[in-house]
Amino acid sequence: MEPALGHASEGSYVAQETINNTKDQQVIIIGGGVCGLAIGWELAEAGKTVTILERGRCGQEATHAAAGMLAAAAECEPGEEQLLQLTRWAQQLWPGYLDRLETSSGQRPDYRDEGTLVVALSRDEVERLRFRHEFQSSLGLPLRWLEAAELRQREPHLRQSAAAAIFSAEDHQVDNRQLAESLKQAYLNAGGSLREECEVEALDCSDPARKRISLGNGDILETKTVVLAAGAWSRGLPGLPEEAMPPVRPLKGQSLALQMVPHSPLLEHVLWTEQIYCVPRLDGRLIIGATVEERGFDDSITAGGIYALIEGARRALPGIEDLPLIECWSGFRPGCRDDAPVLGETAVPGLHLATGHHRNGILLAPVTGHCIAQEILTGALPEAARPFTLARFKPLSARRKKSHLQYQ
Ligand code: GLY
Repeated sequence: MEPALGHASEGSYVAQETINNTKDQQVIIIGGGVCGLAIGWELAEAGKTVTILERGRCGQEATHAAAGMLAAAAECEPGEEQLLQLTRWAQQLWPGYLDRLETSSGQRPDYRDEGTLVVALSRDEVERLRFRHEFQSSLGLPLRWLEAAELRQREPHLRQSAAAAIFSAEDHQVDNRQLAESLKQAYLNAGGSLREECEVEALDCSDPARKRISLGNGDILETKTVVLAAGAWSRGLPGLPEEAMPPVRPLKGQSLALQMVPHSPLLEHVLWTEQIYCVPRLDGRLIIGATVEERGFDDSITAGGIYALIEGARRALPGIEDLPLIECWSGFRPGCRDDAPVLGETAVPGLHLATGHHRNGILLAPVTGHCIAQEILTGALPEAARPFTLARFKPLSARRKKSHLQYQ
């Protein structure tokens, strides 16, 4: 287990819109989602000159589309035991991270700690849920099996036939959109520079000591240290050297939000069924997600996608029929074939990756910020992140060489 993160120092508000090309110590981060912002905040607080380049507005795309579940346990599947170390560590950091964020930004994103219920809605589903419970409990996760009566006591609006559930008390949720706002503010308060609506047209690493970043407005920036945190778009950056290319692809998710009456909500825990998840917010929004679709960057909202979500949610919570539908959206998870993130310096010295977070971008933002900042500040990637470098996708012979060079 890694040590807890340190506390924030106070930062002054700096609204810089220019980039100092001459400072060799400058770190340039490509991508202003929660991970890019979290890295930038750590580095700016540590006294680094940091610039985030964001082609749209900060906190859009996957950050905006997420549901904010901090679900290390409920989302854990066979084969993800190593990832679990990272996600559980992240989970433990969250309460302290929010305190730090509030101190630094003056804002505290909504956080709910009622926990998560993974339910079986019929007798048929109980056996599959038992299997899941046995597997996840065997990993030492703090889960509890609930029979129907206790489940109904916790969530009285669930469909009457709901037969059993796994209760995960430590799987909480945060409002991801508020989180992005707070991180941006904390980053600016710590002295970070931000360029929004700023397209990166090309990266030139032919001289790794002076990487050149060409921007859409004709500016060219030069620096030694670049972090690529562009989510599902990270692979497509023109000029990115082959040996630094993360194998990420977009995994489309469609979601929607219904409006509950905040003082009389239909649901209080995060709820998973075999089809969907429901995430109740403090302001009464009920987020229902999400499809998982291999459709490249097609961001359309489809009748089939929305139908499947509503049907799946209605099966669990018949009362949603009366709720207003207030929003539908889609986004792209950055997915690798092992569903784990890609973290750390690449074979191109000074070029770091923080992408591939798949379903866990919000959960992993604090550890991503900490680990990449530590690697840049100290030259060593924290141990918990070492299984997740790009080197894991290379042949064994190349991996041996890489780990020898990087960690000895
Ligand atoms: N973590 C939720 C999702 O990817 O849909």
